Amino acid sequence: MTKIVTLDEFIITSQKKYNDATGSLTRLLRDIGLAAKIVNREVNKAGLVNILGLDGSENITGDEVQKLDIYANEKMIECLGYSGECCGIASEELEEFIELPPVPSKKAEYVVVTDPLDGSSNIDVNVSVGTIFGIYKRLSDPSGPVQSEDFLQKGTEMVAAGYVLYGTSTILVYTTGNGVNGFTLDPTIGEFCLSHKDIKMPNSGNYYSVNQGYYLKFDLEMRRYIDHCSDLNLRLRYIGSMVSDIHRIMFQGGIFLYPNTRKYPQGKLRLLYECNPMAMIIEQAGGRAVTATLERVLDLEVKSLHQKATIVMGSPDMVDEMIRFVEKYSATVG
Ligand code: AHG
Ligand code: MN
Ligand code: MN
Repeated sequence: MTKIVTLDEFIITSQKKYNDATGSLTRLLRDIGLAAKIVNREVNKAGLVNILGLDGSENITGDEVQKLDIYANEKMIECLGYSGECCGIASEELEEFIELPPVPSKKAEYVVVTDPLDGSSNIDVNVSVGTIFGIYKRLSDPSGPVQSEDFLQKGTEMVAAGYVLYGTSTILVYTTGNGVNGFTLDPTIGEFCLSHKDIKMPNSGNYYSVNQGYYLKFDLEMRRYIDHCSDLNLRLRYIGSMVSDIHRIMFQGGIFLYPNTRKYPQGKLRLLYECNPMAMIIEQAGGRAVTATLERVLDLEVKSLHQKATIVMGSPDMVDEMIRFVEKYSATVG
């Protein structure tokens, strides 16, 4: 029988490989693993909302039923407070970053950025959703309060990033900058178990993922590239949760695009807690992630917590080809 490696065990063993590791990142990742299990439990119950009560109403036990993205946000905050390694959180669900209360005798060295529930509109119809996170070392003096400069760091400064996909099974995928590993939740033992070791994405693939409903609102060069995908008979898949769409591409190869549209001139996805963590994972798996104006996503300056960015990411050969289209067709405009 093959030995099961749990997420906790894997994180601890990986930490031992680095002599200067203090264990604090390990404890932080374990906090996130716990939050993922709690959110998973609630996501699985979401279909029962009509029985247990609608959002904003009271459920059977008299508690107010919360929207799942708010619930996921609260659980992330709660769990990240356990180990005392995280001093602050920036989240899609929080207008401003928050500071976590210090844990006695702990020096909190990290901040976490998160989209606690990605693809939340899928919840109502039993379709996959996710959680995204990124971890940075704080820059400010640890004896003082957490500062905005701690969060407004380039993606290249991230020390770890990951996502959880609540799909037909629940999988947590993360990187600390030394490759990407995936852990599937075994509900019978309540543990994330190593299921996908050292994930490397295919150089090319048969899938493209874009909201084709916005086609007429894309710039000419993007339309030409999407026409090209269609000419090649690539398969269009769009779930409406970037975690789910990118997860398919990670394993089967392909390209995910959220370019600028007339409605969203800067794109829709958020740089800090959506684009950057997913870009780090994609790059670590051998892929590429650039903006619609061809800058590397991880190199972008982060000026505000909720800043948007356009994004094209996926298999390296396909992103390179998209770049050639943009270079060719944007040169013919104006
Ligand atoms: P969220 O639920 O966190 O707001 O994210 C939804 C995002 C992303 O996951 C998805 O790719 C995109 O919005 C879908 O947007 P469109 O409906 O505009 O295609
Ligand atoms: Mn999202
Ligand atoms: Mn969200």
